[in-house]
Amino acid sequence: MRRIAILAGMVLALVSIKTVFAAERKSEGSGLASNSQSHKYIGVKKCAMCHKSELKGNQYGQWLSTKHAQAYETLATAQAQETAKKAGVSGNPQEALACLKCHSTANSVESSLLGEGVVKENGVQCESCHGAGADYAPLSVMKDKAEAIAAGLVIPTQEVCLKCHNTESPNFKGFDFKEYSSKITHPQPKK
Ligand code: HEC
Ligand code: HEC
Ligand code: HEC
Ligand code: HEC
Repeated sequence: MRRIAILAGMVLALVSIKTVFAAERKSEGSGLASNSQSHKYIGVKKCAMCHKSELKGNQYGQWLSTKHAQAYETLATAQAQETAKKAGVSGNPQEALACLKCHSTANSVESSLLGEGVVKENGVQCESCHGAGADYAPLSVMKDKAEAIAAGLVIPTQEVCLKCHNTESPNFKGFDFKEYSSKITHPQPKK
């Protein structure tokens, strides 16, 4: 009986040591995450400087043709007024943070991280999906994918989309990553 009690005590002690370590690792992890959040945003015009050549796939032109580029203008439509009314949001939707937080990059991140080129008029631009670009945009960094990722570049997965494509959106139509990705795709030509 006593041996069992001692054994149980040892197991308990082990478990609590483990939890302490796990908790430490966790807080370390979230520290890193907030570091990666501290890169500055530079705006789509800066990305466009290197990403609008047809030879390289013209990601800028492709983005311009998507609804993401129009997401701010959309807030000026009659449908947006309807939506706002139903959602209980008063005033001009183009001024309402409750709408802009998903309809523009500029109003979805902490304002201290915004470079002057980041304006709400550009809607949902590159950095909402690829991460804030100030530290990865220099050519020497961009040329090396691993370095770019270390400097904040995000290769987006479904989780990125779900930040905005979710039931908090008053006009949510459901989200299928494959189908939705195919509508915004902007690949580089195969080398
Ligand atoms: C100074 C030029 C330059 C600027 C500015 C720039 N890029 Fe790039 N980018 C490149 C080059 C060069 C590559 C590598 C392309 C290749 O592999 O041929 C690249 C690659 C990428 C890739 C693909 C990474 C991979 O290999 O899968 C993404 C995504 C990307 N850039 C996004 C952006 C975004 C978003 C911005 C703006 C915040 C931006 N870039 C600004 C030059 C630039
Ligand atoms: C910062 C918020 C945000 C993120 C992140 C985001 N989207 Fe969107 N997306 C929007 C908004 C807002 C609209 C609607 C714009 C409009 O209609 O003016 C939209 C519209 C779309 C549409 C057009 C839907 C239609 O009705 O035709 C597609 C496709 C789409 N997004 C795909 C994606 C994919 C794929 C991802 C992730 C890789 C993604 N989005 C990430 C905010 C976002
Ligand atoms: C949680 C993010 C989110 C919020 C908050 C949000 N939207 Fe949207 N909105 C989206 C997405 C994503 C779409 C694309 C629709 C889809 O495919 O689900 C969209 C689409 C729209 C559309 C186009 C609908 C269509 O049928 O094409 C309008 C209009 C709109 N939103 C207005 C608003 C207004 C007005 C507000 C504020 C009251 C608002 N949205 C708040 C994410 C959001
Ligand atoms: C709505 C989210 C979204 C926006 C906005 C967006 N991208 Fe992307 N981008 C993606 C996704 C998803 C991929 C594919 C990632 C993968 O390869 O798994 C991608 C891939 C890329 C690639 C690599 C293509 C390849 O063939 O490897 C480049 C370069 C790129 N994006 C640049 C840009 C630039 C520049 C902008 C703005 C003008 C932009 N993206 C806007 C989601 C987005």
